[in-house]
Amino acid sequence: KKLDIIGASTSFGQPKLGVDLGPDAIRYAGLSKTLSDLGYDINDKGNISGDFKVDVAGHSKKEESNLLNFEGVLNFNEHLAKSVDESITAGHFPLVLGGDHSLAIGSLAGISSHYENLGVIWYDAHGDLNDSHTSPSGNIHGMPLAASCGVGHERMVNLYNDGVKVKPENVVLVGMRDLDEGEKKYIKDNNILTFTMVDIREKGIKAVMEEAVSYLKDKTDGIHLSLDVDALDPVETPGTGTPVDGGLSLSETQLAMRILNKSERITSMDLVEVNPLLDEKNKTAEKAVEIAAHLFGKVQRY
Ligand code: ARG
Ligand code: MN
Ligand code: MN
Ligand code: MN
Repeated sequence: KKLDIIGASTSFGQPKLGVDLGPDAIRYAGLSKTLSDLGYDINDKGNISGDFKVDVAGHSKKEESNLLNFEGVLNFNEHLAKSVDESITAGHFPLVLGGDHSLAIGSLAGISSHYENLGVIWYDAHGDLNDSHTSPSGNIHGMPLAASCGVGHERMVNLYNDGVKVKPENVVLVGMRDLDEGEKKYIKDNNILTFTMVDIREKGIKAVMEEAVSYLKDKTDGIHLSLDVDALDPVETPGTGTPVDGGLSLSETQLAMRILNKSERITSMDLVEVNPLLDEKNKTAEKAVEIAAHLFGKVQRY
């Protein structure tokens, strides 16, 4: 089983310094060794590099109305999409480390042409379903799922491959507790299967994940997991840019990953929004490694 680690060292999608160091923080926490001990053949492709005009002073530029660092986001994601596409063509599982969540525009663009009906599980406190009209911030990390579903600026929607990357009926949202008004409307209008924290507290994470898998199982030919570490409670993952109280625990997330591992349906993953400059030691990156390990078959033995 071959696994490609792709470092998506971007911070263009949001304004806080340090999230572009996330991939290295996750490596530092022992990702490669942990996954190779689980029997995987690990190929770390390094960080995406290119001519992104990465200058801190250039951040918060409104090149398009309410789309901050628009050119940087597009340029970065073109490079990322190509790398992810090449990994899948080679038959390797792409594990994309972030980096802010705008990177999902590129990862889904690279993945989607390999599937007829790609499913997506969006494990996050946020829906990331804004466009430039509904976004309260202009930060593109709040927009990648909308763009991938075909909503937003045409250069984001048509990045790398023209058109819709994932159909809203193939999306499941898990961990939601901070949705903007426009996002709520989009979810309702498109009937997206959504598990808020209230649903998770009522049903339990096990039932929720089993329902997510059974919903996607027969109608998709691959499932991408996009996991934002802010899905977890800030007590667990403080090193992230937009923490929201009332989140999932590590043990719930381990169980969620174990259910996905057992489903044998997950074909790619983003592990995003780790910001070591906001962290306590490297705690959040260590949790990220633990989460990935459970997706790839680690079982806790007591
Ligand atoms: N909904 C807010 C916004 O659009 C926050 C988005 C946070 N997204 C994230 N990937 N952490 O600005
Ligand atoms: Mn190979
Ligand atoms: Mn989030
Ligand atoms: Mn997110």
